[in-house]
Amino acid sequence: MFIESQRVFQRLENLIKKGQTTYEDKIVPVDTSTYYREDIYEQELKMFHRLPILLDIASNFDDRKEHKINFRTSHDYELPLIITKNSKGEFHAFPNICRHRGAPIEQELEGYKSSFMCPYHAWCYDVKGNVTYIPEAKAFQSNLSESLGSQYKIESTLGGLWLSGRPGQENWKVLKDYFGPLASQLQIAAKNFPRHYKTTRSKYEFNWKFPIDAVLESYHISTLHRETFKNVLHGNLGLHDNFGLHSRNLYPFKDLRGVTAVEKFEDLFQCASMVYHLFPNSIFSIQPNFLLLMTTVPDSAESCTVINHYFIENEIVDQKSLDRAIALTQIGVEEDYQLLQGVARNLKSQHPVEFIFGGHEAMLSKFHQNIRLEITEKARAGANIGSD
Ligand code: FES
Ligand SMILES: [Fe+2]
Repeated sequence: MFIESQRVFQRLENLIKKGQTTYEDKIVPVDTSTYYREDIYEQELKMFHRLPILLDIASNFDDRKEHKINFRTSHDYELPLIITKNSKGEFHAFPNICRHRGAPIEQELEGYKSSFMCPYHAWCYDVKGNVTYIPEAKAFQSNLSESLGSQYKIESTLGGLWLSGRPGQENWKVLKDYFGPLASQLQIAAKNFPRHYKTTRSKYEFNWKFPIDAVLESYHISTLHRETFKNVLHGNLGLHDNFGLHSRNLYPFKDLRGVTAVEKFEDLFQCASMVYHLFPNSIFSIQPNFLLLMTTVPDSAESCTVINHYFIENEIVDQKSLDRAIALTQIGVEEDYQLLQGVARNLKSQHPVEFIFGGHEAMLSKFHQNIRLEITEKARAGANIGSD
């Protein structure tokens, strides 16, 4: 990691010296219907249901002063789930859909329960989702309860709870298999910022891909963010690398904030805004004094919920500069989102029919290409398996 950190630092220095962002010599047109077509949204939902996605964060299950939490319900990604933490600290998830006749088993957002009782006919479930009690069980004439168990898998890593396995589908080891070569870097960052500081959740009238597009290039820093990020970052200057489906995007701070050499990976946090895109919809953004874990959860083809989890160091060294840094981020991304709502409104008229991603927007091209591959080839492969 020492050599890798030094190599990255040298590349950042060269980037600044040359004043030239990472560049690919091609222009890529993208059909704008990807931001509003219902059928594409349906295909993307299937992609979300197949790949590891961030569902929640482990800190949401910490005991609060006023009440203990061992379950939370979620409706994100059109997946009604109950997520639980048992006394050993293990996480489970199962459908919040009663196996009898489909009623939502649990209505509350969160709480503490050792079993869940369906409000319709009182079937009961344990924290793993096993049916434990059926009133008038003899009427069902089967050992139904033994055949029903926890159907989803959760991996708790990097501060988050990742949905890593579904019934009848591929199960992932999220950190090892899915994040692969990025795992060690993400782990160091999560270790440095272990404390949950706050979470924000906001709904927007634009497609879930727009906020991801917005962080994969710095071409717009000098104009849209001239009052905010431009004060600390260079315009149109980023070091971009692909790691399979994912990418790492480093935007150096002006003068690298005085850093002249790095010895360990953490030293890089001081000299660049480090934005990891974890395909499809999570951003892991490492800043000098906080870590932001952001997801854009699709609500429909043309709307999404942006969830921001902020993590900080165990000891706050300087509360004022932390507050300032988080406020700058929040104001900056709102600049993006206000503008993106305008873009989404323009697209309703279906003009223009194509966007043009330039040579310095290669990460956007790759992101959209990966989605197309995931929703077409993988979907086709799934259909073939089904028809065999
Ligand atoms: S629908 Fe849940 S017990 Fe009947
Ligand atoms: Fe932006």
